[in-house]
Amino acid sequence: MNQDEMKQAVAREAIRYVEEGTVVGVGTGSTANFFIDELAKMKFDIKGAVASSEATAARLQKHGIPVLDLNAVDEMPVYIDGADEANRHLHLVKGGGGALTREKIVAQVARRFICIADASKLVETLGTFPLPIEVIPMARSYVARELVRLGGRPELRQGFTTDNGNVILDVHGLAITEPAKLEATLNNLPGVVTNGLFALRPADALLLGTPEGVKVIE
Ligand code: 5RP
Repeated sequence: MNQDEMKQAVAREAIRYVEEGTVVGVGTGSTANFFIDELAKMKFDIKGAVASSEATAARLQKHGIPVLDLNAVDEMPVYIDGADEANRHLHLVKGGGGALTREKIVAQVARRFICIADASKLVETLGTFPLPIEVIPMARSYVARELVRLGGRPELRQGFTTDNGNVILDVHGLAITEPAKLEATLNNLPGVVTNGLFALRPADALLLGTPEGVKVIE
């Protein structure tokens, strides 16, 4: 199985978590795109989907799946999304696609967060993948200096603006041994909108695509 086949396998498996007649939260990225394609093939109807990015909204709409405003949604049983890194405690690094803030909001609202990823995403310690941080543009230099003080090497993501009109700093060189603590510390820096650590609200289950099939880590 190649990487795309593993992503497709977990996307197919994630459909089991979708409940008829409800609202589904949908993430962003290539694995989430496979999930959207599976949603479109489903035999039963859902009320609609909440998208974690403009790109995801466009793909959902292309398939004829109603896209709902999160403010109009009371209940969301499940949110399905990929990750850039995951550890065995289901702490994640996300935001490689730059959608981390909306992803974190939708994950927080959902009753269950099911992460779908291929086997390459499972790591012992988070931080090899540069940690994305969404920053209000005027705070970019200040936040970058603080990140250096914390031991990281921030790099501005060139030519990229988030769906919220902000910039992304990708932070290299962090060995993230205490993900929840670092998540809170980073979120306390004025100018940081959010960071790509999902540890305070980790995933509830990780569906991992491996050459031997889909493994569920809970
Ligand atoms: C986007 C994300 C994605 O979930 C993450 O980048 C994984 O992407 P892919 O499924 O393409 O490997 O956090 O902001």
